[in-house]
Amino acid sequence: MKVNFGIIGFGFMGHIHEKTLNSLEATKVVAICDIQEERMEDAITEGVIKTTSVDELLKIEDINTVIISVSNHVHKEVVIKAAKAGKNIICEKPAAMSVKEYDEMVAVVKDTGVLFTVHQQRRFDEDFRTAKEVYDQKALGNVFTVQSMLYGINGNMHDWHVFKKYGGGMLYDWGVHLIDQLLYMVDSKITTIFADLRNVINEEVDDYFKILFRFENGITGEIELGTYFLADKEKWFERHWFIGGDSGSMYSDGFEPVGKVARTTRLLKNVPGKTTMTASGPTRSFGPPPEGVLITEELPKVNVAHIMFFENYLNALEGKEELLVKIPEVRRVLAVMEAVRESAATGRSIDFE
Ligand SMILES: NC(=O)c1ccc[n+]([C@@H]2O[C@H](COP(=O)([O-])OP(=O)(O)OC[C@H]3O[C@@H](n4cnc5c(N)ncnc54)[C@H](O)[C@@H]3O)[C@@H](O)[C@H]2O)c1
Repeated sequence: MKVNFGIIGFGFMGHIHEKTLNSLEATKVVAICDIQEERMEDAITEGVIKTTSVDELLKIEDINTVIISVSNHVHKEVVIKAAKAGKNIICEKPAAMSVKEYDEMVAVVKDTGVLFTVHQQRRFDEDFRTAKEVYDQKALGNVFTVQSMLYGINGNMHDWHVFKKYGGGMLYDWGVHLIDQLLYMVDSKITTIFADLRNVINEEVDDYFKILFRFENGITGEIELGTYFLADKEKWFERHWFIGGDSGSMYSDGFEPVGKVARTTRLLKNVPGKTTMTASGPTRSFGPPPEGVLITEELPKVNVAHIMFFENYLNALEGKEELLVKIPEVRRVLAVMEAVRESAATGRSIDFE
């Protein structure tokens, strides 16, 4: 028997969800809903019910799970309706606009006993999983810094994302993924958060942020995103990871990561101050290392794909696995985002956890 789905919000993500669910043996899209009727014209599922009313979709009894892919400002309203209708829920990120909204949603979810998760499928991004694999292998010794960077090089932001009232801005958009990834990797309490959040070219919403996390285990996490790092390049974005430990470094570029793990064959704690001429002038600290001291290794290979998010969900539905993206984890990311806003507004670091 297939698991029947309804998709609420049939825009960019709604269409992707329809394709994904059609590609899986175990799932079937029974109905879709969008307040803009024309958005549903190119649905690919044969015989799918189309409606402009969320209530009508929720009345369809044989829908087991709804995917909520409306714009951010209506997540709360739709999640609460869906939970009250007894539907299991996969909600798009960010689950809510605030921790307060989220707590209200979760209270209803818990009351009704439906399954609830959030579509943080970027936990299955190859670049992230590669960095996480290096981190998990403890291959770099004591890690002191983890950096995750994403830059758009053409200044693009689009549609409702440039308006505050719809939940626009990059923190609500990519920020949620980047924070979720870092917290999924570094298993430690956060002691402080310091952040800069700016509207570089957009009037209403942020399009740049830098977030520094101090974790209890001594690691400093850094996330930086900008949509306006203009560059004359063939590629349209820059994606980087850097992890530094006391016995190695890992760096990677791109979503299909290209990079290395680098180590030293022997530590050079103190060496005679040999002067090397570089473009910036003579240097003793930043010249080349002695021959044979640096070795590099290939990045580990990981086998991941976004479809694994749904595989996990379906297994959880059958009670075979725990949901990967859990209610408290989602709340923690939202709480971090609030601390980011507070830190940026006050210019101070915020005590956390
Ligand atoms: N997980 C990811 O990687 C990812 C990527 C992109 C977007 N998203 C999330 O998906 C959600 C949708 O984003 P999008 O880019 O698809 O936006 P979109 O504007 O393309 O689609 C949203 C759709 O929701 C419809 N809608 C709005 N209010 C509605 C309501 N009350 N009832 C029914 N339909 C309604 C709109 O008419 C629109 O067609 C957002 O929460 C966004 O953050 C997630």
